[in-house]
Amino acid sequence: MTQTKPILVTGASSGIGKLVTEVLSQKGHLVYACARKKVDITMLNKMENVTSFQLDVTNPLDVQEVVTRVKQEGKGLFGLVNNAGVGDSWPILATSEEMLHRVFNVNVYGHLRVTNALISFLIESQGRIVNISSVSGLITPTFLGTYSMSKHALEAWSNALSLELENYNVKVSIIEPGNYKSNIVNAAVPVLLKRFQETTTNLFQKEIESILSQDEEAINRREKLPSPVEVVDAVLDALFNEHPKPRYLVISQLETDLFLSVLKYQFVKISQLFKDNTHEFTLKDLRNLLDEVINEN
Ligand SMILES: NC(=O)c1ccc[n+]([C@@H]2O[C@H](COP(=O)([O-])OP(=O)(O)OC[C@H]3O[C@@H](n4cnc5c(N)ncnc54)[C@H](OP(=O)(O)O)[C@@H]3O)[C@@H](O)[C@H]2O)c1
Repeated sequence: MTQTKPILVTGASSGIGKLVTEVLSQKGHLVYACARKKVDITMLNKMENVTSFQLDVTNPLDVQEVVTRVKQEGKGLFGLVNNAGVGDSWPILATSEEMLHRVFNVNVYGHLRVTNALISFLIESQGRIVNISSVSGLITPTFLGTYSMSKHALEAWSNALSLELENYNVKVSIIEPGNYKSNIVNAAVPVLLKRFQETTTNLFQKEIESILSQDEEAINRREKLPSPVEVVDAVLDALFNEHPKPRYLVISQLETDLFLSVLKYQFVKISQLFKDNTHEFTLKDLRNLLDEVINEN
């Protein structure tokens, strides 16, 4: 499907958002690439077919200004890639409402703000919404409670959106990446260090110190991760395939263990739901149901 209407990408300054913008631009698509900092807006504006807008997804005035800019450009909008995101790593037991809000304000409310503001354009074009979740929207790794909560919320919001937009022919896809090279850990470390310096309680100190001591290692590890090319492929498929998938689990060949643990966790949940069920539902019925669902999807 060729597209002349633009695609808007949030968080286009680095990582996945920047690569999505580069690839769309190279393929000749019009891109509204959104970033927070002037230096990034300038960098993005230099790319062919790209117009960059200032957008902090936590700022309703920025969101309103983006709507105005899209109207002024007069080309409508075909796709919205809700990509902006922040990371966090902290014991959930030591997590305040304020810490939770920092992450939810970007990873959940930010996408809701932007999507609700732009939805009329997407309905008009019968376009696409692509939400960048994470494997942490499917499993909850230790000390990633807040991030994982935000991605689980993003998944539920995305499901709700998908159902409500069915009648309008706007298709919604969720992308669930494993670990790819980006700036997400680098960006989170100063926040965690500041938080550590301001921590007054000794509770969970051991856990917090262990998280921070692993940060440098995590940054180095991330540098060696593959570039998120496969994630971008999934985004493009979600945008342009006539029949986009509702979800794209994208885990690199280097992380087969992660792929298996994500799948296994889904089975663990099913077995917990199934165990001692009061509906005379047998293991054979469960196997038949699994076959049926796999064949249908
Ligand atoms: N890389 C991975 O392994 C991975 C895995 C699973 C999911 N993800 C998800 O992929 C998405 C992109 O992350 P990434 O890994 O590419 O990390 P990244 O390089 O840090 O990119 C994050 C982007 O979000 C932007 N952003 C942060 N806060 C924002 C705000 N308030 N308003 C607007 N933009 C904001 C950042 O802008 P600034 O440069 O201005 O901070 C940056 O452009 C995120 O949703 C992340 O959760 C990534």
